[in-house]
Amino acid sequence: MQMSIPIVFLGIIVSSLVIADHVVYGFKPNDNDIIDASVLTERIGSNRTIKVDIKGDGDYKSVQQAINSVPNGNSQWIIIHVRKGIYREKLHIPKEKQYIFMRGNGKGKTHIVWDRCSDNNTDSATLRVDASNFVAFGISFKNNANIGLPYEIQNEKQSVAALVGGDKVAFYHCAFYSAHNTLFDYKGRHFYDDCYIQGSIDFIFGRARSIFHRCEIFVVSDDRVEIGGSITAQSRESADEKSGLVFVEGRVYGVGGVYLGRAKGAYSRVIFAKTYLSKTIVPQGWTNWSYHGTVKNLYQAEYKCYGPGSYTANRAPWALQLDEKEVAPFMSLDFIDGAEWLPAHRLLKA
Ligand SMILES: *[C@@H]1O[C@H](CO)[C@@H](O)[C@H](O)[C@H]1NC(C)=O
Ligand SMILES: *[C@@H]1O[C@H](CO)[C@@H](O)[C@H](O)[C@H]1NC(C)=O
Ligand SMILES: *[C@@H]1O[C@H](CO)[C@@H](O)[C@H](O)[C@H]1NC(C)=O
Repeated sequence: MQMSIPIVFLGIIVSSLVIADHVVYGFKPNDNDIIDASVLTERIGSNRTIKVDIKGDGDYKSVQQAINSVPNGNSQWIIIHVRKGIYREKLHIPKEKQYIFMRGNGKGKTHIVWDRCSDNNTDSATLRVDASNFVAFGISFKNNANIGLPYEIQNEKQSVAALVGGDKVAFYHCAFYSAHNTLFDYKGRHFYDDCYIQGSIDFIFGRARSIFHRCEIFVVSDDRVEIGGSITAQSRESADEKSGLVFVEGRVYGVGGVYLGRAKGAYSRVIFAKTYLSKTIVPQGWTNWSYHGTVKNLYQAEYKCYGPGSYTANRAPWALQLDEKEVAPFMSLDFIDGAEWLPAHRLLKA
């Protein structure tokens, strides 16, 4: 362990020099290329905006009413602008209502809050997106259910902040708050850019194909589990399934000890690349707790992570440290076919 520290750092320095000009395809924007509300609005090019204002100075006071006003079968982008405020609502975007761009005033200003906990993840979700072609900017989604405390009856239940089940869904500068099962990344191709995700147990889970770019992951402690919770629980079931969770250039920190991931499917696939890992990541890194199959098909991998939680000496025996060639397919927006559908393309600058 002691010996490996300087070697790890040396490795980072040497390999970043070697690959600096090409592996980073898709992930090296210029510093001034910030994707903000106006860039997204311009790229999406919608000519229809529905305003939601909790104080009454808009078309609707409720976000769900605005969603309901989008015609089924819609095929032109519609902006639902949600002004600042705390909206106590449980939102559902049904699959018939596509091409919604839900634009908030910033994740510290526009909040959607509900507090359902349930045995049923779907039923608990504060935001449920079944529609494809959905984009959100600058909104916090929170499940405020009172769980995560020891010896409480609700602890057997789930409290999802967002369930993302549509295809081609992107969140920019959004936040997701809960404890247990925060982000149900259910299915489809997804992109999370500059988002904040908080939780304790299995808090990013599902079977989607997703890139989390520059996201901040904050671990809150949970006294219910002796072994420590897990950030991810990914459910890929077979070798030809394209799902997987890729974290690039983010930061992981928080309270207590957690695993990067636990296997939920036999081919569970999660990659943390170039991510800061604080000491909240336990040395073993990954766990097969509650998964009883062979570990040989698990793809629980890291690439050039750094920080005190990144030392690999005591990692689970099946955990992978990728090299430049192995990580390349995950370091490109092609993993989610992003060039075809993401509204903002700054990341595609080489
Ligand atoms: C909005 O733009 C679409 C095409 O992008 C067009 O079909 C529609 O007529 C426009 N609506 C208005 C009100 O300009
Ligand atoms: C879970 O909740 C959803 C949404 O309320 C519902 O449609 C579904 O039938 C529920 N599933 C089960 C197994 O109860
Ligand atoms: C986890 O994997 C190891 C092999 O590395 C195996 O010995 C152990 O039994 C597995 N645990 C479970 C719960 O399957």
